[in-house]
Amino acid sequence: MAVAPVSVATLAAMKARGERIVSLTCYDACFAQLLDRAGVDVLLVGDSLGMVLQGHATTVPVTVAQMAYHAAAVARGRERALLVVDLPFMAAATPERALDQAAQLMQEGGAQVVKLEGGAWLADTVQRLTEQGVPVCAHLGLLPQSVNRLGGYRFQGRDETSAERIRREAQLMEEAGASLLVLECVPAALAAEISQALQIPVIGIGAGAGCDGQVLVLHDMLGLNPGRPPRFSRDFMAAGRSAIGEAIAAYVTAVREGSFPAAAETPY
Ligand code: KIV
Repeated sequence: MAVAPVSVATLAAMKARGERIVSLTCYDACFAQLLDRAGVDVLLVGDSLGMVLQGHATTVPVTVAQMAYHAAAVARGRERALLVVDLPFMAAATPERALDQAAQLMQEGGAQVVKLEGGAWLADTVQRLTEQGVPVCAHLGLLPQSVNRLGGYRFQGRDETSAERIRREAQLMEEAGASLLVLECVPAALAAEISQALQIPVIGIGAGAGCDGQVLVLHDMLGLNPGRPPRFSRDFMAAGRSAIGEAIAAYVTAVREGSFPAAAETPY
């Protein structure tokens, strides 16, 4: 039987029903098929591919052409899941540039939603993209593309000034027309508050269990991170699982029932 494809409207309806949204990063057709069949709702072609596939220390070297290449591969493997693709470093430096680059990701890469990292300064860009028919996923909290300015991958929103900025910017992104928001590495209480305040679904990574959904980097949750895995992640290949499909299925179940992330995976 044909399965109904997930759209931004599907995700909004899931939020309204209190159903948790399951997302993972994905970079090729083979995994796209596996994740799609396991019931993952959102496949994120993240610029994290610069680190986990290309071996860079940051996501900064990743280009739009590389994102479009991997997105097109994922698009060929998916059937049901929504395809969200990152605009990489500098791709949204001006609204005009963002419009051009988003067009490339949608036309060449098959992106259904484009994700862009940044706060208030991007509100105009989000509005322009939305007006042109591009669904947008905003990304607040830890912004990996800004690692050189931040001086490391640190949790954000831990003091009241920065928490208030994230709250305000989340609201701004929704008002500008964003359809989704990724909140990365912020305290669980702040993420839960923002998820309740916004109409649009909020997908957390390192942001506690109170978000409308969860996303992880595929390689982290398969225990393929050669360095130190992030504190907020879980190795789903552990606990005796020997097949990748079983690990993905365990992740889908854990997110849907709310048992991931657990307290031990919620540093703040
Ligand atoms: O690039 C990526 O994988 C991401 C996730 C960490 C949310 O943006």
